[in-house]
Amino acid sequence: MTILLPLVLGYLFGSIPFGLVITRAAGLGDIRAIGSGNIGATNVLRTGRKDLALATLILDGGKGAIAVIIAYGLGWRPEVAGAAAFLGHCYPVWLGFKGGKGVATFIGTVFALHFPAGIFAGATWLAVAFIGRYSSLSALFAASATPFVMFAMGKPFYALAALFMTLLIFIRHRTNIARLLSGEEPKIGADKKTAE
Ligand code: G3P
Repeated sequence: MTILLPLVLGYLFGSIPFGLVITRAAGLGDIRAIGSGNIGATNVLRTGRKDLALATLILDGGKGAIAVIIAYGLGWRPEVAGAAAFLGHCYPVWLGFKGGKGVATFIGTVFALHFPAGIFAGATWLAVAFIGRYSSLSALFAASATPFVMFAMGKPFYALAALFMTLLIFIRHRTNIARLLSGEEPKIGADKKTAE
């Protein structure tokens, strides 16, 4: 039960598609028909609404963090709740299991699991974004470093959960990686007309 309950709780939290809900509520239509077609903050930014992108970032990160905090408070495995929230975001039952790429939920989860590791992941994302201006590349760097940081900080189970999420982040960014390699990946904030 210490695995099942945080799994269910985390998945249900993570499966709320905030980017989709927020953009629909703002009258922008279906975010899946805009830009990359992703439901995350980077794609919401392509609508030109920075406020909605920020809200999506905070809420997608927050749902991972809250799942971890609740699990922790109830004596359940917090890393299971966080990884399940990440899974819920990537594969939400409400959207036919076609969800987002999980980066904000990953970072929110890591922050709640181990604050210094969250600072490291967030700082890595920002540093790579500042230099390269690619959201996907920043995510790949931040996700790659985090399991090692967790392990080095003496949190092997958190490191395992982070490694699981990192592998899925790479899988979810397959098309981004192909575009980065071909030089076609749009930079942060750049308009991109066609959905994947
Ligand atoms: O967080 C998602 C980001 O890494 C890529 O998003 O919309 O450019 O595919 P997008």
